[in-house]
Amino acid sequence: MIIVGGSSSYELAEELADCMGVGCIRASTKRFPDGECYTRIECDTIDDHVVVVQNTYPDGDLVEMLLIQDAIKSLGAKTVACVIPYFGYARQDRLFNPGEPESAKVMARMLEMNTDHVVTVDLHKQDTLRWFSCPAVDVKAAPAIGEFFSDHEVDIVLSPDIGARSRAEEVGKIMGVDSDHLQKTRLSGMDVRIAPANVDVGGKNVLIVDDMISTGGTIVAASNELKKVGAERVYVACTHGLFVQDALQRMACVDEVVCCNTVMSEVSRISVAPLVAKALKETQ
Ligand code: R5P
Repeated sequence: MIIVGGSSSYELAEELADCMGVGCIRASTKRFPDGECYTRIECDTIDDHVVVVQNTYPDGDLVEMLLIQDAIKSLGAKTVACVIPYFGYARQDRLFNPGEPESAKVMARMLEMNTDHVVTVDLHKQDTLRWFSCPAVDVKAAPAIGEFFSDHEVDIVLSPDIGARSRAEEVGKIMGVDSDHLQKTRLSGMDVRIAPANVDVGGKNVLIVDDMISTGGTIVAASNELKKVGAERVYVACTHGLFVQDALQRMACVDEVVCCNTVMSEVSRISVAPLVAKALKETQ
């Protein structure tokens, strides 16, 4: 087996290769002056099973993934598995209004064209896996998040909404602490309202876990609400830290924000490589 890292995920690809004891090639990717993507896997043939590691967000990274898949097939790879650390467009997973596309389905259908097997990490909705006709598994980052926070004296783990409750439960179980959820209403793309917590957080250290942080609006509202009702410390962990615009600065009210290395940023301190390696080994 050989790992090929796309430009969004070179570090993760290398770490994954270390975990699996196999070699790693970096795809040489650049942009033409007009923005189009050029990529090359610098070898003559690949007589092996290949695992590509590359995000499908933002759009440029999706195009790079499609081009890498084709290049690997041309080199003669026996099979191609795609590790998609952050699968873009997963939030538009159904029709909310007539005339909309099912974006997650569109992405899955495109990506499976040159793929024998897909591994994602903390998909927004598990349901999305059904759009792949090849074998597809979603790796849960909760064990890595729970382990990272095990030295933080966390009293309770909360999700910002009921949809993410099972993630909070899983992290809480690993840490041996209680878990619950808050109630979120989205007001606009940037702002959300969090209802007063049903759970008593007075004097407690709270860990909020979510699958992703985009504008930071959810976390700011949740943290403000928790501090208002007496939480001592508010830690935040997410799998995918997109941190659009000034999201990290916006979250200055939080005591600590960390995310996984599915999307790289200054706070990508939790590695999912061992969990992804395990999932790949189980499917061999
Ligand atoms: C929504 O359902 C997701 O799980 C996240 O809570 C959301 O995408 C976070 O977005 P933002 O950081 O913009 O509030």
